Amino acid sequence: MILNDISIAKIRQKMICYTVRKSAILPALTVACRQVGHLNNEIYREISVILEIPYLEVAEAASFYTMFPKKPVGRHLIQVCHNISCALLGADSLISYLEEKLGIKKGETSPDNLFTLISVECLGSCTSAPMIQIDDKYYELLTREKIDRILDDLKESSLNGKESSF
Ligand code: FES
Repeated sequence: MILNDISIAKIRQKMICYTVRKSAILPALTVACRQVGHLNNEIYREISVILEIPYLEVAEAASFYTMFPKKPVGRHLIQVCHNISCALLGADSLISYLEEKLGIKKGETSPDNLFTLISVECLGSCTSAPMIQIDDKYYELLTREKIDRILDDLKESSLNGKESSF
């Protein structure tokens, strides 16, 4: 078993909030992702057993969302929106800047294991483009200076074991 007792209890708790079991898939995937840091076939299988629904329904739902990494990622997952509004306002340049700053390419994790960088489709914050999502948080109306501050803050809070102030 990959999921621990706490995660299983949380998933069971989510289940009772929904009359249709498959409505609990996304909350269950979120719980699993918070525990493990990423998802895989074994986790889909465990969730399907807990929710008593077909494995494929869990796997299909997970495959649709970039917010659920399918392989191990760094401590912080940086998702850069590269869709139309963000692209028009400099997403490509921000991606290049992040690649340069972190010393990695899209899809890679920094050597210190702090950051994984990916680009994703629209995150629904087009009026605040360009924007990125890091873990559960949105960072909007970005500039290179703002990115510098965000990364510095995340590095510092990771070193001190504190929450980011952003
Ligand atoms: S295009 Fe980037 S948030 Fe919509």
